[in-house]
Amino acid sequence: MTASDRLRGLIRTIPDFPKPGIHFRDITTLLLDAEGLRLAVDTMAGQLTGPFDLVAGIEARGFVFAPALALKLGAGVLLIRKDGKLPGATIAEDYALEYGTDRIAMHADACAPGARVLLVDDLIATGGTARAAVRLLRKAGAHVTQAAFVIDLPDLGGAAALRGDGIAVSSLVA
Ligand code: PRP
Ligand code: ADE
Repeated sequence: MTASDRLRGLIRTIPDFPKPGIHFRDITTLLLDAEGLRLAVDTMAGQLTGPFDLVAGIEARGFVFAPALALKLGAGVLLIRKDGKLPGATIAEDYALEYGTDRIAMHADACAPGARVLLVDDLIATGGTARAAVRLLRKAGAHVTQAAFVIDLPDLGGAAALRGDGIAVSSLVA
């Protein structure tokens, strides 16, 4: 069985969450499995071309994978949070979600100009969140060329759009 097949089997689909018609891909079942979690992090790390100064994780589920990858890659962690949560001066970006709209923010001084930043989240769907994160990081002066996800929902076009923004996109399960 491939790593992808094993990981796919650990991800649960919840129908009609948070809205009717959405098939929610739930990674909590993967996180509960020690071997599965290690396989996910190791496989993600193996798909990347470093070095990276920082791994940027997107709230909330990106926060699970960003520190694990950062420890493997020898990088720090940059938190991209929902707007209004960070205590210092922030920069923000609005984006459309598969099921709503939102705004993400990061500390304006979180990365040095030219810092090599890897973007990480659990899932890419429409790409609205990840593309906003790339705009945000680039506004802060970061050098962002790679993004890693556990799950890609290719029918929603997010990974293709992100590639159009000049990002090499990797994922474990489509
Ligand atoms: C989910 C997921 C991604 C985003 C992907 O987060 O973790 O961040 O949606 O969707 P997109 O590609 O269409 O933008 P969500 O906004 O549900 O927040 P959460 O992690 O706090 O649950
Ligand atoms: N974020 C956006 N779409 C999602 C989905 N279908 N499942 C889990 N998280 C999501």
